[in-house]
Amino acid sequence: MHIVVGITGGIAAYKAPELVRQLVKAGHTVRCAATEHALQFVTRVTLETVSGAPLYSDLFASGGTEHISLKDWGDMLVVAPATANIIGKVASGIADDALSTLLLAFSGKPVLMAPAMNSLMWAHPAVQRNLATLRSWGIHTVGPAEGELACGTSGVGRMAEPEEIVGQVATLLQHAEPLAGQRWLVTAGPTYERIDSVRFIGNYSSGKMGFALADALAGAGADVELVSGPTHLDCRHPRVHLVRVESAREMYAAAVEAFPACRGAILSAAVADYRPESCADHKLKKQGDEGMTLRLVQNPDILATLGGMKNAGQRLVGFALETDHELENAQGKLERKHLDYIVMNSLRDAGAGFGVDTNKVTILGADGSREESPLLSKQEIARLIVNTVTS
Ligand code: CTP
Repeated sequence: MHIVVGITGGIAAYKAPELVRQLVKAGHTVRCAATEHALQFVTRVTLETVSGAPLYSDLFASGGTEHISLKDWGDMLVVAPATANIIGKVASGIADDALSTLLLAFSGKPVLMAPAMNSLMWAHPAVQRNLATLRSWGIHTVGPAEGELACGTSGVGRMAEPEEIVGQVATLLQHAEPLAGQRWLVTAGPTYERIDSVRFIGNYSSGKMGFALADALAGAGADVELVSGPTHLDCRHPRVHLVRVESAREMYAAAVEAFPACRGAILSAAVADYRPESCADHKLKKQGDEGMTLRLVQNPDILATLGGMKNAGQRLVGFALETDHELENAQGKLERKHLDYIVMNSLRDAGAGFGVDTNKVTILGADGSREESPLLSKQEIARLIVNTVTS
């Protein structure tokens, strides 16, 4: 596995090279990211030698995008030692150096922190509150232990030993990849249905929900075939294979081809139900006062088609964007299209639906289960959906 070890400025930083050495010995590939203060306690040369890779400590090196490449590269981020300062920064969303910026970008994958500080600092309500915030976001912690501290006192605050941290890494990685070896299909974004060489019928779908789903599935270890209509989004997770399409018929062809090899599919695309009957290969001229009639014909229903193809071991999940009689309509779609789950968005909910970064959903199961989410980011909603439909 690819592990990023983040090191912050506490005396326990002297144990970081030993941690890196043990992670490498356990078969992991390691890259280090250190704060400026950490480099007062442990040298760049030491960290680069034990990890065998360049250290990341300058936010503006490589054009200022290294935190994003490292986030894509890493399967897990371990911060050891984690000072009260870095814990407070992450809890407050502060990103003012290489490591804190990486920590904010590192979403959808496990983060383990090994706090180390003086016992009075550890007991401070601000530190305890910040840690509670991090834990509520799913960040894991190991230690600190009780014992002699570098400042000459003793109490709670010693960083967990490298062996214990390596053990936690192994446990978390096992739990973090429950979908390893599975392939999933995701559809995302709008479809464009051509009218002529310069015009189309489209919709406002941004693709954000589908891309977040692909990221959450890949983060859980799955290989993902992401079939997306036109969007400005990009997905850099190495386990996501992005297939860009334009029309509903192209999306249909890509999805039908990919589905048989998949453990399941989540269809979040906003597919045009109709397309113009014919598409002019030139730009249509305006036709004057009498107006213009565009005849539309129905597109194939990708979700219903996959529902018909599905075998007993496969899971199929659809979306329903409803404005009226939401539950009734969603339940109807679940049954008609032979789905295992349907994720319902109500356009009546503020903050849910097209374009925005948040969503609020109800997940209905064919087994009668029903789960309602609060308003969350699309990334959090994606993780909730993936946990529900893959368990
Ligand atoms: N869908 C699809 N192919 C289509 C139309 C829709 O795969 N041609 C999928 C969407 O990706 C979504 C689900 O079907 O997962 C719900 O789409 P929606 O348009 O809400 O449902 P319809 O069955 O088209 O019903 P209606 O338009 O009557 O609401």
